[in-house]
Amino acid sequence: MRFLSVFALLLVSGIYAAEEVPLDPVTGMKMTGDWEIVRNHCIICHSSKTFLQQSGTESTWTDILAWMQKNGGLWKLDPAIEKTIIGYLAVNYGPGDKFRRAPIPLSLMPVNPYATEAKLEAEAKKKEGLIPKAPPVAN
Ligand code: HEC
Repeated sequence: MRFLSVFALLLVSGIYAAEEVPLDPVTGMKMTGDWEIVRNHCIICHSSKTFLQQSGTESTWTDILAWMQKNGGLWKLDPAIEKTIIGYLAVNYGPGDKFRRAPIPLSLMPVNPYATEAKLEAEAKKKEGLIPKAPPVAN
């Protein structure tokens, strides 16, 4: 009986060891699936730590990429490549059990009766026409 349970334990730990994904020693990325496509696109401007410390669903990663295209200088990606990148990130850096709820949309929030300094400054700038209505266009 004892022999059997030791055997079962070895078998189970063997299975777990086989499932562990090796990490790339340079970037720390999980070396599985299309990881090299993601590496080639995503460590040009910043360290891989920028995205390895994040986690999210496909929708979160889609938003992060869109945010970077708007604000971080990320170029428009080929749709198939973009799908591959988002798929890899969502599978390997998904929300797990640390899921955080999405922010409540502004339209559902109560009116904030307090005018903060930042809000007053932004309103004054808007009045002066200092806040652009569209993101700057790259030359
Ligand atoms: C053209 C340059 C560029 C490329 C290529 C790029 N990023 Fe970024 N990324 C940025 C900039 C700029 C920031 C903002 C850095 C900061 O706030 O210090 C950023 C920030 C981020 C953040 C942090 C966002 C946050 O919530 O703070 C994540 C995650 C990220 N990038 C993921 C990626 C992934 C995944 C890829 C591959 C598709 C990628 N980046 C490729 C420019 C780039």
